Amino acid sequence: MHAIAYVSAASWSLLEEQIQRIVSESRRLNALHGITGVLMYCDGNFLQYLEGEEDAVMETFARVRASESHYQVSELMNQTILEREFSDWSMGFSRPDPQEFVDLASARWKGSAQTGPGASLLRLFWANCRTQLARETPPCP
Ligand SMILES: Cc1cc2nc3c(=O)[nH]c(=O)nc-3n(C[C@H](O)[C@H](O)[C@H](O)COP(=O)(O)O)c2cc1C
Repeated sequence: MHAIAYVSAASWSLLEEQIQRIVSESRRLNALHGITGVLMYCDGNFLQYLEGEEDAVMETFARVRASESHYQVSELMNQTILEREFSDWSMGFSRPDPQEFVDLASARWKGSAQTGPGASLLRLFWANCRTQLARETPPCP
């Protein structure tokens, strides 16, 4: 298993409906490729965590990087992981408040054998908002 996390800046012209399209297109593609993870959006910035088989993660990240919907894609982590953090979510979507987003983006993500505190913080954030999200954004098969 492999995981990549990054932050990026949304293109200035990105509209709300385009964000929704990215989420639904990501869910469709990720379900096909065995990718799971979560996408965060706050004040024009994305933070995404992708996990799956290494080849599939690399292929997906290449597609993400190529998207013109965002720029300044900056890796937080890119490493082997022991197990998935978000196995139920082909791509969960949430909108952290600005302080939560800054905390996530500035956490230490890289680890050696295991992921750093960033992934733990993301898992905690997701667990806290999951009950509410479960009603709004059902997981994909
Ligand atoms: C913030 C963001 C997250 C994305 N996440 C995924 C993803 O999880 N899986 C995937 O296959 N593609 C992902 N993509 C790529 C989109 O599915 C789609 O291929 C891309 O947005 C199309 O390019 P365009 O934005 O230039 O029109 C992502 C794109 C962006 C901007």
